[in-house]
Amino acid sequence: MRFLVVDDYESLSRRAALMLAGHVVVNPSVVLGLATGDSPLGMYRELVKLHHDYGLDFSSVRTFNLDEYCGLSPSHPQSYAHYMRQNFFTGVNLHPDNTHLLDGVAPDQFAECIRYEDEIKQAGGIDFQVLGIGRNGHIAFNEPGDHFQVRTGVFELAEATREANARFFERGDTVPTRALSVGIGTIMKAREILLVASGVEKAHALAASIFSPIDPALPASILKIHPNFTLLVDRAAARDLAERDLSAYQ
Ligand code: GLP
Repeated sequence: MRFLVVDDYESLSRRAALMLAGHVVVNPSVVLGLATGDSPLGMYRELVKLHHDYGLDFSSVRTFNLDEYCGLSPSHPQSYAHYMRQNFFTGVNLHPDNTHLLDGVAPDQFAECIRYEDEIKQAGGIDFQVLGIGRNGHIAFNEPGDHFQVRTGVFELAEATREANARFFERGDTVPTRALSVGIGTIMKAREILLVASGVEKAHALAASIFSPIDPALPASILKIHPNFTLLVDRAAARDLAERDLSAYQ
């Protein structure tokens, strides 16, 4: 595990974008695993700039998003499909056929999960997976539980997650109770993983994930055994990590 602390969200976003851009330059048809939420927003902004200002070429890049709310169609303003179009896809030259998301309104959700796993497999697996982390230690929509869900599946959202994500929804609009999400096994199979976290509200979940034993009650705790895992955080998110001796991780 590599542990990188930067001053603030701006530096974190730039650093994450440069790491991802490096993959695109080295392998123009790289398979990216992408996250949503506030954490990677600045990274997407930087990538759009790199495309416009320096010609970073996404024309052969393939992407797979982590998750989607059940019941939200791709055109719904709170869907992750909409988020991705708005914040990334339309700002770079990704080919629409190369961008993949779970379909939140698929008539058969279980078949949809199997289809998605197959597509990832056919693409050769994920080369570089970007992750955020929930305040309760969830990754993608793998919520704390008594076992790790290995494959892509249908997940019940924790109340804490629904509350945290309510900020993205209009007043009166309710946060869905379920989501489709890739599983922990699929995430752990990625060749490289980058987790980005900013802000003091992530400090506890991060420290617990790094220092406590691997535990499905804290899904992010499994990441530390991934052979190519980078934790990139700003100073605020590193608050509870900074007190410990992390020299072994640097
Ligand atoms: C959501 C997403 C996760 C994301 C997490 C943190 O529930 N499903 O993929 O990492 O929340 O979001 P944020 O970055 O907005 O704090």
